[in-house]
Amino acid sequence: MSERELLKVVVLISGNGTNLQALIDSAASSDARFEVAAVFSNRADARGLDRARRAGIAAHVIDPREFDDRERFDAALADAVDEYEPGLVVLAGFMRILSPAFVNRFADRLVNIHPSLLPKFKGLHTHRRVLAEGETEHGATVHLVTAELDDGQPIMQYRLDIRADDTEDSLEARVHEGEYLIYPRTVAMFAEGRVTIDAGHVLLDGEIMSEPVRIEAAS
Ligand code: GRF
Repeated sequence: MSERELLKVVVLISGNGTNLQALIDSAASSDARFEVAAVFSNRADARGLDRARRAGIAAHVIDPREFDDRERFDAALADAVDEYEPGLVVLAGFMRILSPAFVNRFADRLVNIHPSLLPKFKGLHTHRRVLAEGETEHGATVHLVTAELDDGQPIMQYRLDIRADDTEDSLEARVHEGEYLIYPRTVAMFAEGRVTIDAGHVLLDGEIMSEPVRIEAAS
């Protein structure tokens, strides 16, 4: 990538899009090496679509109800995403499980953010489950996407200590703050060429990562 060439990022959302906003804000800084080229949502009421439009970014809705099955929806989404020739496809609160065909098509450039310290607490309602299990720590993980749900290699993690007075809501807010740090930072590392993906492995500065980059919450 030449000095001035920006990594093209396409973001997939389903809802509020606060992580999308963090990426848009980061891309707007003068030293940013990536741009958000387009945003896709499976829901027309996703607030993140307005965030994209306000920033002058193409915002598209592809409604699964217009397709006979998941494979056809995923194929249409993949074709539409590919039109932007993204260097990285970023799932940011995209609440649909993608078929292996989609995942394989973008295998070396598809990442997600999940609100837990993966591999712990895959799936939904992570804050509630973390509290119910009496965990002492929690966080968020940016990871490579594979055909298994929340299972790809972790790339960057944000870790926080759970406080005695934490609730599901307070944990959600604290984890979100961490997400807004680690997602733009991870995308920037892709844009700088420091993080690459090769045959299902994530490399950092050319070496296979044995563990994610870890960012600690300020206590
Ligand atoms: C985030 O907590 C993310 O970890 C999860 O979905 C949520 C999306 O929030 N995958 P937002 O739409 O970015 O506000």
